[in-house]
Amino acid sequence: MGSRQHLRDIQSGPPLDYHDDIRANSREYAEALDKEDSLRGFRSEFIIPSKTDLKRKVLIDAQSLKDDADERCIYLCGNSLGVQPRSTRQYIERYLQTWATKGVFGHFVPHSDQLLPPFVEVDTAAAKLMAPIVGASESEVAVMGTLTANLHLLMASFYQPTTEKYKIILEGKAFPSDHYAIESQILHHKLDPKQAMVLIEPEKLDRPVLTTDQIIKVIDENASSTALILLSAVQFYTGQYFDIQRITAHAHSKSILIGWDCAHAAGNVDLRLHEWDVDFAAWCTYKYLNSGPGGMAAVFVHERHGQVDDQQNFRPRLAGWWGNDLKTRFQMKNEFVPQPGAAGFQLSNPSVLDINAVVASLEIFKRAGMKSIREKSLHLTGYLEHLLLTYPLDSSPESKPFIMITPSNPAERGAQLSLRLRPGLLEKVLPYLEEHGVVIDERKPDVIRVAPAPLYNTYTDVWEFCQVFFAACREAVQPSA
Ligand SMILES: Cc1ncc(COP(=O)(O)O)c(C=O)c1O
Repeated sequence: MGSRQHLRDIQSGPPLDYHDDIRANSREYAEALDKEDSLRGFRSEFIIPSKTDLKRKVLIDAQSLKDDADERCIYLCGNSLGVQPRSTRQYIERYLQTWATKGVFGHFVPHSDQLLPPFVEVDTAAAKLMAPIVGASESEVAVMGTLTANLHLLMASFYQPTTEKYKIILEGKAFPSDHYAIESQILHHKLDPKQAMVLIEPEKLDRPVLTTDQIIKVIDENASSTALILLSAVQFYTGQYFDIQRITAHAHSKSILIGWDCAHAAGNVDLRLHEWDVDFAAWCTYKYLNSGPGGMAAVFVHERHGQVDDQQNFRPRLAGWWGNDLKTRFQMKNEFVPQPGAAGFQLSNPSVLDINAVVASLEIFKRAGMKSIREKSLHLTGYLEHLLLTYPLDSSPESKPFIMITPSNPAERGAQLSLRLRPGLLEKVLPYLEEHGVVIDERKPDVIRVAPAPLYNTYTDVWEFCQVFFAACREAVQPSA
């Protein structure tokens, strides 16, 4: 079962077994699960907006964001934008202080109380922390740029169409930016996207998941003409976690390169990009990795693609000075020789301001560990699913106001559950949730995405969400007077 195998290592069973316990539906039970949670201490390291803050018309002074000033909102939106780690402010202040007091010397001079090394080395420090998040070695990861721009950069290197092999396989429902990036790469090579883009469409539109067999079938059908496959590791809409290992191995068996958009997977599921032999990957850090809106992104390039041999042969790419060999970077010669590894794909000197926000969050991940995070996530999202299944039905199953479109197999999903509401209910349910301090996100016309993030969400958050959501559904299905 490929990459699913390792799930057995970490699925040791819920701390308390909510599946067989009729008390599982009570607040006390959720609170008992929280008490058993070994990651529970991490919640206080994040600033979760209060219900009052969310309704403010003016921003308040951050100093007054006190711990228990008001009741926290139920924030289940880490799939879209993670909340702010408390330490982010400290990292950024220390950076501002370095810049203010040292100016250009901040680039090179270390300080005994620094949180990050001098500016010229911050990218290396960030890559070191990022590598274990995606199961890579340090040299296979670079923290750089933004996600869509990085996808372009990587495709500039990995998509080298020929007359025979020119197609790119992607999901029909890929995130639009990925679709546009691929389409424009194809146009850039003066090819016709209608011929060169192979879209894998879901078989059932009401449950738009893609089976591994279906993906493999599309690869087989287009094997001789395909140059590249680019898929998402966790699908943004359905929350489906694809079998990266099996699909990657299959692509390679047909001599096709494959890259993964890990925007919804990094910091969410236990990726093993190196072990699974992925060619390249890219992700952002503002979702589960809590770096703030538009925060710095990252890339993975498998070590075999990042090599620079003795004759200075290397994989072609779009180059910039920051990717140059460190020994000659500042010599200003016009001969590009990349650093080995993903760092050799960097273009510009990184925004130190942005990297500080990334590192503040990654330090928390380092202490918690991805294995424990995924383990809690399986329980937390399992508990959410369990409670959702207890929605009382008046009559037939069809009367249920929502269905889950995320796979019910925990190995095939991350933190997020996507719920499709009956037509017309979304407009009524959303204001109710907002009014009651629940933060989730919607994909119109009828889907909400609910994502408990294991570092800062609790079982009680999940329980409270279900209370509010069920009440919202009950009110929404009432015939209007
Ligand atoms: C799967 C996926 N790909 C690409 C993007 C685009 O990201 P960016 O705006 O950081 O380039 C997003 C943004 O949410 C996304 O979810």
